[in-house]
Amino acid sequence: MEKDKNLYSPIFKVTKEKRRALHGHNSKIIWFTGLSGSGKTTIANELEDILHSKGISTFILDGDNIRQGLNNDLGFSQEDRKENIRRIGEVAKLFVDSGIVVLVTFISPFASERKLVRDMVEKDEFIEVYVNCSLEECEKRDPKGLYQRAKNGEIKEFTGISSPYEVPENPEIILETSNYSIKECTEILYDYLKRLL
Ligand code: PPS
Ligand code: MG
Repeated sequence: MEKDKNLYSPIFKVTKEKRRALHGHNSKIIWFTGLSGSGKTTIANELEDILHSKGISTFILDGDNIRQGLNNDLGFSQEDRKENIRRIGEVAKLFVDSGIVVLVTFISPFASERKLVRDMVEKDEFIEVYVNCSLEECEKRDPKGLYQRAKNGEIKEFTGISSPYEVPENPEIILETSNYSIKECTEILYDYLKRLL
């Protein structure tokens, strides 16, 4: 498809800085990445609860809900996962422009797409959180029964079983959910974030 060249960036009177000032805090993308069952959604849920109680405006973009709506045309091939993350990155950027802290919880298995999103925004606006949990532990937890189904061959291209996960090389923060409780991981993350918001 040929790109429309006759596009202009609008200059709006209400800027990102003015929106941030209205909210009374900074806006960021908190980008969680990790295997299915590693704890991305659970930690984001706990973190959002804390941030909200402190008067910080937040929103969660989660794999399970976005894939039923905005991205319901996408599956789990490499190509579709890349498009999934590209679109989510664009949406997350809009949230940052709106002055909100957006918590994004997708497996996002490819380093190239995580970098693509990182490069969409200002350097200090993207915080990559690697939710690290061994495949063995994720298989043991198997909260949705997906690992079992993947191993039975019922789900093709399942991350960690039949589709790759590229471990982040330089995330801003690593949470070890095999060794620390959800509460501890959330506190570690909140302690890191509070001075940046
Ligand atoms: S990705 O790789 O970033 O595009 O994946 P994401 O959008 O986060 O979607 C992952 C959730 O979809 C469920 N699911 C699968 N995960 C991995 N591989 C395959 N094939 C798959 N099929 C369905 C699964 O519930 C994931 O949710 P989480 O919360 O990560 O466990
Ligand atoms: Mg999840």
